[in-house]
Amino acid sequence: MTANRAMQTKDMTVVVTGATGRTGRRVAEAARAAGLTVRPASRAHGFDWDSPAGWADVLRGADAAYLAHPADVGAPAATEAVGRLALEAVALGVRRLVLLSARGEEQAKPTEEALRVPGARWTVVRAAWFAQNFSEGPLAEELRRSGELVFPGDGVPEPFVDVRDVADVVVAALTAGDRYAEQVLEVSGPRLLTFGEAVAEVARAAGRKLAYRPVAARAYGERLAEFGLPPEEVAYLVDLFDSLLDGRNAHLSDGVRQVLGREPRDFTAYAEEAAAAGAWRAD
Ligand SMILES: NC(=O)c1ccc[n+]([C@@H]2O[C@H](COP(=O)([O-])OP(=O)(O)OC[C@H]3O[C@@H](n4cnc5c(N)ncnc54)[C@H](OP(=O)(O)O)[C@@H]3O)[C@@H](O)[C@H]2O)c1
Repeated sequence: MTANRAMQTKDMTVVVTGATGRTGRRVAEAARAAGLTVRPASRAHGFDWDSPAGWADVLRGADAAYLAHPADVGAPAATEAVGRLALEAVALGVRRLVLLSARGEEQAKPTEEALRVPGARWTVVRAAWFAQNFSEGPLAEELRRSGELVFPGDGVPEPFVDVRDVADVVVAALTAGDRYAEQVLEVSGPRLLTFGEAVAEVARAAGRKLAYRPVAARAYGERLAEFGLPPEEVAYLVDLFDSLLDGRNAHLSDGVRQVLGREPRDFTAYAEEAAAAGAWRAD
């Protein structure tokens, strides 16, 4: 790192949305480790994607922002909010914007487009399915509690990516000046695994009997409706899983090597670390 770059990084303040979530937490950690000042922004910190009136207070005086919308990135609410926030950010001088998007997700294109407001130095990071979906969040909780993961995607290979690699790529993009401005970076893990193979790896690491039970996207949607999800959200997710898990993503992307100059973290190492931390310990 040059002295000039070190100075720029030391003086840089980044707003990290979703700072208590899977990626935001790691982006905040990696950004602090790189010497940036982090301004965490989730509801616990007074930032609400549903209350634009409060956004300026969070953005003012910052240099950059990491945007991870809590709804799926392609949901209409995400498109509208990201576009609106990007406009407000640029108007306040926060021009460096990094959006978390999803690899192979046609539905996310309008949100990516909404980020590209005049004056923004934007980067889109399109991630594969997170490895951490198996250890953090609602799917993980179901797997830990019931010993079974019920999900679409039977036999479809996916290169699950460790969210720490996503965070490292985001921070590298933030601290590399304009090197990754106006670019889309696609990141995946180093090898393809089906959901069944991934759960088998998790079971081995956890020393527990855990199973994957495939269901059709439509049947999965019916389950979500039983849990009280509104019909329009169910319809969106059925369509999303149907398309994302049709084999289009059964290939690797080299964003981690391209940006970080190293191989992505492997799923087995992730599973062993998460197991050691108690992620799948039965009640
Ligand atoms: N899961 C995957 O495999 C995958 C792959 C590629 C892309 N993505 C994208 O990842 C994004 C989600 O990111 P993530 O997985 O890092 O997040 P996450 O783990 O789902 O956590 C959501 C975060 O957003 C915050 N939040 C929730 N509602 C909020 C609101 N109304 N206003 C402000 N903050 C709110 C939460 O904190 P509080 O509750 O404290 O506010 C939390 O920090 C989605 O856009 C998804 O499309 C996911």
